[in-house]
Amino acid sequence: MSTPGIIESVAALRQATRQWRAAGESIALVPTMGALHAGHISLTQIVRAKARRVIVSIFVNPTQFAPTEDFSKYPRTFEADREKLAAAGVDAIYAPQPAEIYPPGFATTISLAGPASAGLEDRFRPTHFAGVATVVAKLHIQAMPDIAIYGEKDFQQLAVIRQMTRDLDLPIEVLGGPTIREADGLALSSRNVYLDAAQRKIAPILNVTMRDAAQRIRGGSDVAAIMTNARATITAAGFSLDYLELRGAITLGAPDVASGKPLRMLVAAKIGMTRLIDNIAV
Ligand code: PAF
Repeated sequence: MSTPGIIESVAALRQATRQWRAAGESIALVPTMGALHAGHISLTQIVRAKARRVIVSIFVNPTQFAPTEDFSKYPRTFEADREKLAAAGVDAIYAPQPAEIYPPGFATTISLAGPASAGLEDRFRPTHFAGVATVVAKLHIQAMPDIAIYGEKDFQQLAVIRQMTRDLDLPIEVLGGPTIREADGLALSSRNVYLDAAQRKIAPILNVTMRDAAQRIRGGSDVAAIMTNARATITAAGFSLDYLELRGAITLGAPDVASGKPLRMLVAAKIGMTRLIDNIAV
């Protein structure tokens, strides 16, 4: 197990990537906000098989949190993250301080449309994707990797990042990694640590309900009725439901069920103070 180098500045990141490029080595970037779990490690494994060098960035990005959200209490577990990344064999951890990413006078934000305005997360977190896209654009430009990978658990985020990377002509292949789940179906998330024992028992109902609804839709039953029942099941279990929607998997627009095009079911719901999101292919 080798210790990954810790890089804290854009200049040091560029020096490392310049050397790797000069040696003809390909580079993958795995952007994270830390509090790493098996889902993040699976992303490093996917790109480890595709690129010679793997950089994991750890940066809890303030601009993607609204003032009412959990920025200050978001779990920060750098030492444990470092150990996990050493065991995963990554080459470098890019862990910049906020002032490195947002120096005094920083005044640029990426303005988005397309999947960022699909009426899903954006309806409940209106400033979120501008913050995500701005930091991800910076990370992409700073590291200029061949590949960058993001978890499918944040499915709308993945669509936004693909669109932004394409629209800005960044020569980076954006990959999505499958959601890793607990045995009972709960999607791994850094925010699962907020769940108490009773909430943790209820949490998998999101995934179980979506799987059941997806199976019925595939079986040809009435989509509107299935979605209404699924929403009622989630609410009856104790969630406060933000949305449960069926969408086209590429555009995140209205689903064309008859066309046979890929569909995605997406959910966001609060249990107590914790907001969970999940999605599955239909
Ligand atoms: O998914 C995340 O952890 C974050 O939104 C990301 C992509 C690292 C940007 O801060």
